[in-house]
Amino acid sequence: MHETASEEALHPAPADAIEEVVFESLTIDSRVAELAAEISRDYRGKDLLLVGVLKGAYIFLCDLVRQLTPPVSFDFLSISHFGAGRSSPQPVEITCDLSEPVGGRHLLIVEDIVDTGLSLHYLVGILQERQPASLAICTLLDRPQLRLADIPIRYVGFDVDESFLVGYGLDFRDRYRDLPYIATLKM
Ligand code: PRP
Repeated sequence: MHETASEEALHPAPADAIEEVVFESLTIDSRVAELAAEISRDYRGKDLLLVGVLKGAYIFLCDLVRQLTPPVSFDFLSISHFGAGRSSPQPVEITCDLSEPVGGRHLLIVEDIVDTGLSLHYLVGILQERQPASLAICTLLDRPQLRLADIPIRYVGFDVDESFLVGYGLDFRDRYRDLPYIATLKM
């Protein structure tokens, strides 16, 4: 379906919108494989449940889970924030919860990016109350320089600067999540 002229202006095609590719698809694949190997070693013989935080973590989790070797399952949840978008950091509630109880299971929260850490701080508090056997965090991207809440992250794909990034799950107004690479936008 063709977009109208005004929609094209609001949402330019990736080729017109991308400023610079920061992580090529092959670079991401290779780092995801390394993380999967590390997680597989650490959780050998354990009942691992990946908890993806929608929407951004969806693509990373899908690639990660297919390379893990222990018995593994996955689930998703989403949270709302005051205001909208990545710059409004205060999480307020779970809008879509996990489908099953997680007591006694080894949870690994999977994120696409951690900025202030407030989303994870909120989530960790809620999930700890459900008494998992263990709880750890894996994020593809990390911006430790933006951190407001002190949360321990066990697995990090890449540290990044404060540039606004899209692709591989990261969005601008819900667009560009499907790009196989991570890039900056022409703003
Ligand atoms: C992003 C990201 C994390 C959160 C991190 O989600 O996926 O969930 O922000 O920010 P914080 O560390 O400052 O709390 P976003 O709100 O952009 O929603 P999305 O995953 O649906 O894109």
